Amino acid sequence: MTKPAPADDSIRPGEVAVPLPDGTDAGVYFIGRIHTPWATRRACPRRGDLNGPICTIEVDPRWSEALTGIEAYPRIQVLYWMHEARRDLVIQTLRGSGVLSGTFALRSPVRPNPIASSVVALAERSETTLKVRGPDCMDGTALIDLKPDRGAVDIEHGSDHEGL
Ligand SMILES: C[S@@+](CC[C@H](N)C(=O)[O-])C[C@H]1O[C@@H](n2cnc3c(N)ncnc32)[C@H](O)[C@@H]1O
Repeated sequence: MTKPAPADDSIRPGEVAVPLPDGTDAGVYFIGRIHTPWATRRACPRRGDLNGPICTIEVDPRWSEALTGIEAYPRIQVLYWMHEARRDLVIQTLRGSGVLSGTFALRSPVRPNPIASSVVALAERSETTLKVRGPDCMDGTALIDLKPDRGAVDIEHGSDHEGL
């Protein structure tokens, strides 16, 4: 695994930072990496596009069996760790728009736990490599989870795995 880049510590007028807690409450396992055409945060699209360029999700071979059956789903929800985002802003403005909002009222990567989620279109699976369209993250972003996107089915009827 490559060493993470330092988080952005710039702050804009009106933004508010708070001290972070002394320690974290849980740990995560990075289960792979997402490879995209975008080398920097600024180069990334604001949000993913299901008709966007092919990107590659490389899952660590340790978790290969966990992918069993995933090709049955044309859409997958991807959770990833925005490693370059600062974590202490409670009020922020998006890319200098000047409009201030609370962090939990935004989908900004800047949040206490910089977890992002996007639904992507699965184009192809080859062993632990998934070709997808729809990520909005920079190349090398760490993958933390994959879930089938069952959209309205889950909302209307409940998931058959909810209780597990
Ligand atoms: C607005 S966020 C939305 C993320 C996700 N789709 C969501 O809704 O949770 C997407 C932006 O995060 C930024 N970004 C992408 N990869 C990042 C990374 N590894 N660390 C920090 N920021 C990142 C880029 O500026 C990108 O346009």
